[in-house]
Amino acid sequence: MGKIKAAKNADRYDLYIKSVQDPDSEVKFVRRTFNKMFHKEPRTLREDFCGTGAVACSFVRTSPENRAVGVDLDPVPLAWGREHHLAPLGEAASRVKLMEGDVLHPPDEKFDIVCANNFSYFAFKTREKLSSYFRAVHKTLNDEGFLYLDIYGGPEAMIPQLEEWEYDDFTYVWDQDFYDPVTGDYRCYIHFKFPDGSKMKKAFKYDWCLWNLVEVKDLLYEVGYRE
Ligand SMILES: C[S@@+](CC[C@H](N)C(=O)[O-])C[C@H]1O[C@@H](n2cnc3c(N)ncnc32)[C@H](O)[C@@H]1O
Repeated sequence: MGKIKAAKNADRYDLYIKSVQDPDSEVKFVRRTFNKMFHKEPRTLREDFCGTGAVACSFVRTSPENRAVGVDLDPVPLAWGREHHLAPLGEAASRVKLMEGDVLHPPDEKFDIVCANNFSYFAFKTREKLSSYFRAVHKTLNDEGFLYLDIYGGPEAMIPQLEEWEYDDFTYVWDQDFYDPVTGDYRCYIHFKFPDGSKMKKAFKYDWCLWNLVEVKDLLYEVGYRE
């Protein structure tokens, strides 16, 4: 896509990928980690909360033996991903399936790697729900396999504030809007600003629980993960 000068000709998924995601580096990292742990190449990957499926598509590009599945509740980013990530893959597109569904009920198939990027599991706001998710993933992992998660937190994360990052032709704004230390309820937005002064407000909204690392680790061990 060319230079973006105004909100009216910007595509929110294109902006999101440019500012938030780096699918090729994520795939490089999980492949290297898998190699280190199991001394072989991962061949299957499921991208949970996949949005446009950028990671699943990047994974199949790295080898003709690789297959991937992406799962998301929302048909809109899935359709965008089919057009912008899947179609350009050519032959490799037949090795990716982008599915509309709930990650609490994943496809009945085992994977070398399941990944849940960009803190998406924060969408599960109770211990019970988060533990059901971790359990559901565990059942679909090969014996030599792993769940890849990232985490977001620390004292700064609890403070309502705006952070801005400048890109070539737009500004990305991360808006930590609300945090309740009693319930863990956490609301954030992504906004974008453009050189002509126009804005795309609340391009993405996140209604999360701000889980901390100890809570996440405890739950993972509790449902059977090791290491
Ligand atoms: C933060 S976006 C993640 C997009 C992309 N995977 C990334 O790493 O940046 C969160 C996505 O999770 C999806 N989602 C939320 N709850 C879900 C659930 N229970 N099952 C499947 N997808 C879900 C939303 O529709 C949204 O597309």
